[in-house]
Amino acid sequence: MIYLDYAASAPMRREALDAYYKAATTFPGNPSSLHDTGTAAHDLLQECRKQLADVLGGDPNGIYFTSGGSESNDLAIRSIVRGNSHRGRHIITSKLEHPSVLGAFAVLEEEGFKITYLPVKPNGLLSLQDIEKALTNETILVAIQHVNHEIGTTQQVQEIGSLLKKNSIAFHCDAVQSFGKIPIQVQENYISSLSISSHKVGGPQGVGAVYIDPSVHWKSTYRFATHQKGFRPGTLNVPGIAAFTTAAACAINEMMEHHEKTRVLRDMWIDMIKSHDEAIKIEGINQLPSIIGMTSSSFQGQWLLLECNRQQLAISVGSACHIGQQIPATTITAIGKTIDEANRFIRISLGAETSRTDLEHLYQALTPYLKIDKAI
Ligand SMILES: Cc1ncc(COP(=O)(O)O)c(C=O)c1O
Repeated sequence: MIYLDYAASAPMRREALDAYYKAATTFPGNPSSLHDTGTAAHDLLQECRKQLADVLGGDPNGIYFTSGGSESNDLAIRSIVRGNSHRGRHIITSKLEHPSVLGAFAVLEEEGFKITYLPVKPNGLLSLQDIEKALTNETILVAIQHVNHEIGTTQQVQEIGSLLKKNSIAFHCDAVQSFGKIPIQVQENYISSLSISSHKVGGPQGVGAVYIDPSVHWKSTYRFATHQKGFRPGTLNVPGIAAFTTAAACAINEMMEHHEKTRVLRDMWIDMIKSHDEAIKIEGINQLPSIIGMTSSSFQGQWLLLECNRQQLAISVGSACHIGQQIPATTITAIGKTIDEANRFIRISLGAETSRTDLEHLYQALTPYLKIDKAI
């Protein structure tokens, strides 16, 4: 199978597997236990916190481990809102966000918070002026992703962070797709909370982290939780976290090289499909090179996915495709396209093992569908 779905999940790195094995065998204790075996596991976690905080340019006391990017988004948003609800009940975001962010806001809306969804330009970018216009005396949080999961557009986090810092408003940034791919620094960009996920950088699935600036108030969404200062209950997955930290370090080390490699492959793909611009269109501007979101003028994304799968190519139709239930790519409707257009969306995402030959295979598989006279 030719794997072109790295934005969904990247294969685990050898180094991460080794780190998992080593941590599982050398540090078997519960990090909350008071004996030496527990303390050793606790020390390993502290070292992981330090390493992740270093690469994010933050304070190790702000790192909390979770089960992945979705839980990081949900807990960070709801905990910060709970900790600041005495200051106001207004929140700002956009429909570009991952379902885990939109889901947290749907719950908060039911609890009586007012949510403003910013307009999104057809190119997938948000405007700083629109964010500024939406701020009120009641605004306590703005949540804007760094890189979009479906079309790869990159928002201006530095400018957004500075604006919110001036107005003393918390800024949550979902960096699940950007972490390890392009630089992201929490203190420099005035980010109050930031989500990252292990399996997007070659660590194990089911592990993630959230950074919350220690100066930001938050209140636990749980009762009687004691782990991680009450942020999230449950014994931590020590080997998973060690493997995640190792994978993150590898991704950061290889970041420039990975960026250049995927940029070259992206340019090659753009060149291949440029004579079919009426049949297939790349969405967005200012994208992460490894994420290529495209809309077909005639064919259903689900059909193209199945056809590619038949030809041993793994692609996707967006972030929320479940067996037996096709949810159109929400980014495509957020940028102003119709549900019908969103149903004609496909995403390819490139990674360490992607080659020129892989893209040539994809091109061959898609060639019958790059004509505009047939439709399915
Ligand atoms: C932007 C973004 N946020 C959050 C998530 C959720 O991450 P996880 O799969 O670790 O829950 C994803 C996953 O695709 C994502 O792309």
